[in-house]
Amino acid sequence: MSANVGASPDEFKELVRARTDIVQLIGETVALFNKGRDFKGLCPFHDDHNPSFTVNPERQTYMCWSCRKGGDCFSFVMENDRINFRETLELLAKRAGLELPASYARGPAEPKEKPHLYDALEWAEKEFHHCLLTTAIAERARNYLHQRGFNSASIAKFKLGYHPDSWDWLLQRAKGRFDPELLVRASLAKERDSASGYGGSGFYDQFVDRVMFPIHDERGRTVAFGGRILPDSKAKSDAKYLNSSETPVFSKSRVCYALDVARDAIKKTGIVMVMEGYADCVKAHQGGILNAVATLGTALTETHVTVLKRLASRVILIFDGDRAGVEAAEKAIPRFLSQDVDLRILTVPDELDPDEFIDQRGGDALLRLAEDAPDAIEYQLRLLLNRHGKTTLNGRQQVLEGMLNLLTLSPGIVNSLKEDLLVGRLPQRLGISEVDVRKRLKQIRSGQPATTSRATDRKIAASSPGGDPTQIRRAQLVDSLQRNLKKDEMLECEFLHILFTHPDLIHAARQEIGLDDVRHEALREILSIWFDMHEEAVEPSYDRMLARIECPELKRLVVWIEDQSPRRTDPKSSAGSSAVGTESAEAGLQRVIEGMKWRRSHDAHEASKSLLVERPSETANLTAESRAVLEQALRFHRKRTAK
Ligand code: UTP
Ligand code: MN
Repeated sequence: MSANVGASPDEFKELVRARTDIVQLIGETVALFNKGRDFKGLCPFHDDHNPSFTVNPERQTYMCWSCRKGGDCFSFVMENDRINFRETLELLAKRAGLELPASYARGPAEPKEKPHLYDALEWAEKEFHHCLLTTAIAERARNYLHQRGFNSASIAKFKLGYHPDSWDWLLQRAKGRFDPELLVRASLAKERDSASGYGGSGFYDQFVDRVMFPIHDERGRTVAFGGRILPDSKAKSDAKYLNSSETPVFSKSRVCYALDVARDAIKKTGIVMVMEGYADCVKAHQGGILNAVATLGTALTETHVTVLKRLASRVILIFDGDRAGVEAAEKAIPRFLSQDVDLRILTVPDELDPDEFIDQRGGDALLRLAEDAPDAIEYQLRLLLNRHGKTTLNGRQQVLEGMLNLLTLSPGIVNSLKEDLLVGRLPQRLGISEVDVRKRLKQIRSGQPATTSRATDRKIAASSPGGDPTQIRRAQLVDSLQRNLKKDEMLECEFLHILFTHPDLIHAARQEIGLDDVRHEALREILSIWFDMHEEAVEPSYDRMLARIECPELKRLVVWIEDQSPRRTDPKSSAGSSAVGTESAEAGLQRVIEGMKWRRSHDAHEASKSLLVERPSETANLTAESRAVLEQALRFHRKRTAK
C-alpha cells in the first residue's frame, strides 16, 4: 500500500506538488536556460521574442514579466494543455508515480471493502455509546454533557458516545474482530510514524478523550465521527473537534449530520435548518426543532444543497452571531444564489451560537427568528449597506458593485426571476436610477459568456479551460489589479505578502483581521485559504496554499504578490543585515494591520453617520440600546477625526 492511499485531497495535492520538479516539467515544453538562481525562456502563453518567462526553482513557480501569467506546476499544465484541474492532477500524479487516493477514486471503492468499513464503524459507535452510558471512566464525559444541558433522550437519539483518555482503547477492543489496518481505513485509528520512536503496536486510536458524535448517511448507516475534546483534557491535541477523514464510505461535502433523524420533519415542513455545529444541531432537536441538520466542519457545499433540495424547498442557513459566522454566511451566498431553492440566512443575534441561544431563550424563539430570516439577497444587501454606508456616493457605489458582482458570480441567474428581484431592489435602496443600475450590470457582464446562447458557451469553453464565468470574472479582477494597483489594494497585497513569507504570523494576524477587512474579492479568496488552514490547525505555508488553490488565475495572483518587493528586509536574501528604510516582518504586519483597522473604523464611522445624521427615520425603530451604541460610536469618531 503506498502512503498516499488514505491522504486527504489537500494532502495529496501537496504531495504531487512536492514530487514534481517544475524546472523539469516546464523544460519539457519550453527551452529553459539558467540565469542566476532562476531559469528563463520564451513565454509559451504569448508571442514572446525576448525571454520574459522565468521559472523559480526555489519557489517552484513560474511567471512571465510580459503577459503576467504565473503559477505553479498545476496551473502550468492546466493552461498549457488546456485541461481541467482534475485531469491535471491525474497527469502529474502519474508522472510522479503516485496513485490517486481513495477520496479521488472515480469508481466505487473495492466492492468487498465497504461492508467491512460499515461494520467497523457501527461497532465503534456501539462501543463509544456503551462506554459513555455505563463505565466509570466516562464520568467526566457524562458530567460535561450534563453541564451543557444535553438530556439522556438526546444522548440516546444521537447515540452520543465517549472515547476514553487512552491511545489504544479501541484498538484493544477490536482485537480478534477488526484488523488495525481496517480501523485505519475507517479513520478510527492511525498508523504511527515510524520515525517517532514509540514502541508498541504501530497504531494508535484516532479519537482520544473525546465525546463522540456519530455521523450517519441518509440511510442511517454509521459513516464517520466528530469527536469533541473534553474541556479539561490532558490529551495532546488542540483541535476542539476532530472529524473522521474522508473514506470510501464518507464524503464530507455530501453528508449532513442528523439528516437521518431530521428527514421526516424536513419533508413534512418543506424546510431544512442547516447549522454549523454538532452541538447546535443536537440542542436544536432537543428544543423541538426537528428539521435541523449540520455540516461537518466545512461550509455547505453544492452537493449538500443538491441532496437537501430533494427534501425541502427552503433552506435556512443558521450561522453563529460572531464575526466568523457572518463571514461564513457571506461566503455561502454567491454559491447558492443560482440554485433553485429559497435560501434564507440567519445569523443568531448577540454573538451567540444556536446552542447558547436555545439554552437562553428556547427553541421556539429560534424558530420565530428563522421564520423572519431574510432571503440571501436581502441579507447581502443589508450587510453591504452596513459595511459601506450609503451617505456617500462612494459607499453607495461600493454596495452596487458588491451586489452586481453577486450576479456575475452566479451565472445561472441571468434573466431569472431572482435577477429581477435583485436588480429591482437596488434603485430604491441605493437611490441610483434603475437605468444606471442596468447599465453598470451590462458593463460588468461584458466579456462574460452569454449564458443564453449555447454557441457562445461552447466557443468560450473551447478557448479556455477556465471557461466558466467565475473564472472569467476572476481573470478580469486579477488583470485589473495587476494593471492598476490602488492604494487600498496595495495594503491588502502587502498583508498577504507578509503571510506568504512569514506564515507563522498568521496567528497574530488572525486575532486582528477578519475576511471582511480585505475588500478585493480575489485577495479575500486567497486570505480565506490562509484562515482555513489556520482553523484546520494545519501549519500554513506558501506551498500548501498553492497546492490548495485550483484556479490558475488565483495562482497567478499569488505568485505575482509573492514576487512584489516588500518594503521591509527579506530575511532570506539579507539574513541579519538591517538596511536603512526597512522594517521587520512583525513591524510590517503591525503597520498593515493598523492601516486596515483604521479603514474599518473609518467605514463604520461613515455607516453610523449615515444612519444617524442623514437617515434619522431609519434609526427611529432601533432599540434605545442600539441607538446609544451608534451615538457613542459617532461621538468617538468625531473626537478622533477632530485630532
Ligand atoms: P464551533 O467552533 O462553532 O463549535 O464549530 P461549537 O459547535 O460552538 O462547539 P462547542 O459548542 O464548543 O462544543 C462548529 C463546527 O465546526 C467544526 C465542527 O464540525 C463543529 O461542530 N470544527 C470546529 C472542527 O471541525 N474543528 C474544530 O477544531 C472546531
Ligand atoms: Mn457552541
